[in-house]
Amino acid sequence: MSKIRIKSQPEIEAMRRSGKAASLLLQRIGEGVAPGVSTYELDQISRQTIKELGGVSSFLGYQLPEHAPYPATICASINEEIIHGIPSKAVILKEGDIIGIDTAIFLGGFHGDNAFTFKVGEISEDAQKLLDVTRESLYASINEAKPGNRLGDVCYAVQECVEAHGFSVARDFVGHGIGRSMHESPQVPNFGEPGKGIRLKPGMVLAIEPMVNAGRYEAAVREDGWTAVTADSSLSAHFEHTVAVLSDGPEILTYNPDLWG
Ligand code: MF3
Ligand code: CO
Repeated sequence: MSKIRIKSQPEIEAMRRSGKAASLLLQRIGEGVAPGVSTYELDQISRQTIKELGGVSSFLGYQLPEHAPYPATICASINEEIIHGIPSKAVILKEGDIIGIDTAIFLGGFHGDNAFTFKVGEISEDAQKLLDVTRESLYASINEAKPGNRLGDVCYAVQECVEAHGFSVARDFVGHGIGRSMHESPQVPNFGEPGKGIRLKPGMVLAIEPMVNAGRYEAAVREDGWTAVTADSSLSAHFEHTVAVLSDGPEILTYNPDLWG
């Protein structure tokens, strides 16, 4: 695995700007979520907003190993879809759905990456609980992202929270270091062992992104080669923040009170 890139003070400052832009972008897309709206339209909002913010999409054309270049600026993953749902005119939101929106922007030389699972109108109590627990697991994990702790502390915090509520973490996908590249070292799984792994240092920046299934953790990939779904068709939720490890603790670079409360 490649070396972890420690960010200097000016680099952290630049990542505050790309993180803030990403958080505004995510809010704007979320404001478009409503019954009857297609995920294509949400991608159009995203493209327009990225332009207004003066950045470039981190996703469009991105090449993950063994995948075709990604064709859109957001991932839009509905209900049993875990991540990487491709926007389409044929996918129309309906009352009661949950939709994970993952988006990132490249601005001033750095990426900001964040995701939020929105509700479409009124949702079931079970779906609401899944959203609440997934968010809680993200914040539990962020709390561990401080110097002196180890990476396993961050990973285990997600797993502990999720499994305590009877849900499971998707294991095939991970969070990641982030900076001048969207995906940097280290990988940040949503499960692990406390006290294990590399020691966290000031200047590390991590994209922490729990993907939580209401049922079992196994995933499958649809014929489009991208969309990851739960193997048992249970609901799945995804929240993500870009987080800087600073000497006095974690700083959430993608925090936006208008979206996250
Ligand atoms: N935001 C995703 C991640 O955190 C990446 C989406 S895949 C892409 O890893 F191909 F759309 F970029
Ligand atoms: Co990410």
